[in-house]
Amino acid sequence: MKILVSGGAGYIGSHTCVELIQNGYNIIIADNFSNSSYKAVKGIETITNSQVKFYEVDVCCEESLRTVFNENKIDAIIHFAGFKAVYESIEKPLMYYSNNLGATMNLCKIMAEFNVTKLVFSSSATVYLADNPVPLTEIANLGAINPYGWTKYMGEQILSDVAKGNPDISIALLRYFNPVGAHESGLIGEIPKGVPNNLVPYISQTAAGILKELTIHGDDYDTPDGTCVRDYVHVCDLAAGHVKAIEYLKNNKGSEVFNLGTGKGASVLEMLNTFMEVNKINVPYKIGPRRMGDNPVSYANPEKAEKMLGFKAERTLEDMLKSSWVFQKGLLHTF
Ligand code: WQD
Repeated sequence: MKILVSGGAGYIGSHTCVELIQNGYNIIIADNFSNSSYKAVKGIETITNSQVKFYEVDVCCEESLRTVFNENKIDAIIHFAGFKAVYESIEKPLMYYSNNLGATMNLCKIMAEFNVTKLVFSSSATVYLADNPVPLTEIANLGAINPYGWTKYMGEQILSDVAKGNPDISIALLRYFNPVGAHESGLIGEIPKGVPNNLVPYISQTAAGILKELTIHGDDYDTPDGTCVRDYVHVCDLAAGHVKAIEYLKNNKGSEVFNLGTGKGASVLEMLNTFMEVNKINVPYKIGPRRMGDNPVSYANPEKAEKMLGFKAERTLEDMLKSSWVFQKGLLHTF
C-alpha cells in the first residue's frame, strides 16, 4: 500500500513514517516545512535505510495536492499537517481555522476526485472538556477552550460527515494524549518553534542550559503531589498506533474514534524527577502560578484502541525521558 503522510516531516509524522516503512508500506510525504525541516526526512531515510518520496507543498493548495495524487497512486492518507500551538491559536484564530480546516477539507476534496477512501486523522485529547470523569473514554463530553482545540473538534466533525456521505469511506480519528520522547537513534524528535509550551521539551532545553529554569505551573491542585496529571505516551508507541489504524481501515467502513494513550497518569513533578534520575542531570525549577486553561487531571481509557486496533503503549516514562534527552543532546551538536 502507498500511504500519503501530510505533515510527515513533523514530530509525530516523522516517527509514523519510520514505523510505516518498517512495516512494509510505501510512503509519500507532503509537508510545507512551516513547523518542521528537511532534516527530519533525512532522519527517516537514515533510520530506515531507504529513499523517501517527498513533496514540499502546502496541503491547503488544491493544485499542489492534485499534482501529488496525479503522480502517485495513493491508497490511504495519514493527515498530520496543521498548526498545533495552543497559545498561538488564541492570538491568531483565523490562521488556525483557515490552515487546519482548509487542509482537511482540501484533502477530502482531492481524495474524492481520485477515489481514495481511507484516511487516518491526527486528533487530540484536547477535544475533551475538563468536566469529564477520568479515565476518559471516547464518548466523554466534547468541546474546546481554544481555536486549536476547535480545529481538531471541527476536523473530526467534517471527516465523520464525509464518511456518513459515502459508504465506501473508512476513517480513523486518533485522539492523542501527551506525546513525548523521540526515536532511540536521536535522529528525529520534537523541535518546538521558539520557547516550548509543552513540559518535556521545556525540561530538555532547561537541562541543556538553553533555558534558565523550569516553572511548574501550580502545585496546589487536588492531585497526589499538587501538580497536574497527564497521560504521557511515547511518540514511537503513538506511531505504531497509526500503523494499526491503517490496518483497521482495510476491513472497516465508516468513521471511528480512538484514544491513543497509556491509560496511566503522571504528574509534572513525577516527570521532572524521573527525567533527572534517568538522565542523571539536574534541572533547576521553581513553582509558579497555575496556567490558564490547565485541566488538573487528564488520562485515557485506552481499551477501545486496545480491543479494536490491537494498540498497546509499551514504553515507560523512563524510555520517554531518556530518549528526549538523547535527542536534545544530538541537537546541541547540530546547531
Ligand atoms: C503538561 C503539564 C502544564 C510546561 C498540550 C496541548 C494539547 C496537546 C499536548 C496537541 C501541564 C505543565 C508545562 C511548563 C509546566 N498538544 N507545564 N511547565 O497542556 O497537557 O497539552 O500538549 O495536541 O493540545 O494542550 O501539555 O506539556 O503543555 O503541559 O508546569 O513549562 O505540564 O501546566 O500541567 P498539555 P503540556
